[in-house]
Amino acid sequence: MADQPGSPTTDDAPDLAAAALPADVVGLLEGIATTRAIRRYTDEPVPDAALRAILFAATRAPSGSNRQPFRFVVLRDGEKAAQAKHLVAEGARRVWAGKRSTDGYDRGTGTVDDSPKARMARTMQHYVDHVAEAPVLILPCLVRYREPTPSEGASVYPACQNVLLAARALGYGGVLTGMHFFVEDELRALLGIPPEVFVAATITLGRPAGGHGPVRRRPLGELVFGDTWGEAPAWAVDPPGTQHTAAGPPRQDS
Ligand SMILES: Cc1cc2nc3c(=O)[nH]c(=O)nc-3n(C[C@H](O)[C@H](O)[C@H](O)COP(=O)(O)O)c2cc1C
Repeated sequence: MADQPGSPTTDDAPDLAAAALPADVVGLLEGIATTRAIRRYTDEPVPDAALRAILFAATRAPSGSNRQPFRFVVLRDGEKAAQAKHLVAEGARRVWAGKRSTDGYDRGTGTVDDSPKARMARTMQHYVDHVAEAPVLILPCLVRYREPTPSEGASVYPACQNVLLAARALGYGGVLTGMHFFVEDELRALLGIPPEVFVAATITLGRPAGGHGPVRRRPLGELVFGDTWGEAPAWAVDPPGTQHTAAGPPRQDS
C-alpha cells in the first residue's frame, strides 16, 4: 500500500493502517478468567501496534444509544505524559495513605508478614511508588451531554474492561483505579480536558513483571440466582479447578 500523508512508514514503524490486528495469545473465555489487576510492570514499552489494538477494542465497547461518549487520553513518554504520570503518582500516594489507614492495613492480620492483607499492602505500596514509571497511563473519560445520571458510568466502564481484556489478549496487563481523584484539576489543566468531561478512572498498562493468573471470585452459585432471589440454579457450578476468594458479599450462612 502506498504511503499516505501523515502516516510515515519505516522499518521501525510499520504502516498500521495496512496491518491487521495482532493475534490473541489467549482465547476469550480464558482471557476473561485470567484478567487480573496487574500492578507491577517491566520496563518494556508497549508498541504502537499493541496500543492500537487495545484502544481499538476499547472503542468497540457498547454505550447507551451507541453515542460513544468515551474518550481515552493515552499517555506514554512525552513531557506532558511524564508530568501527568507524576501527578497521578502524587494522587495515588494520597489515596493509598488514606485507604491504608481507614482499612486498617497496618492492624490485625495486616501486621502478619505473609497474610493476604500484608501482601496486598506491599503490592499497593509498590504500585504507588512506581506508578509514574508505568509504560502507559490511560485516562478513560466520558463526554457528558446531559446532567450526570447514576448510570452514566455504564457508557464508559465496559470500554475500560475492553482495555484490560485486549491487553490480556496480547500478553500485557493493567489495573483500573480511582487514584486521580485528588489531582483531577491539575490533570485537566495540564491535558486540556474540558469541564463537561468526566475523568472516569486511570488505567496503567505494561508487560506484567509476574505472570497472569486466574481471577478469584466467590463461587458461581453464590452470585447467580434462578427464579428465587438467593437460590442458585442447578447449572450454576464453577468449572473444575476454579479458585475462590473470601472477599466479596456476605454469605447467607455467615
Ligand atoms: C471500579 C473499580 C475501582 C478500582 N479501584 C482501584 C484502585 O483505586 N486501586 C487499585 O489498586 N485497584 C483498583 N481496582 C482494582 C481492584 O482492586 C481489583 O480488580 C480487585 O481487587 C480484584 O482483583 P483482580 O482484578 O486481580 O481479580 C478497581 C477496580 C474497579 C472495577
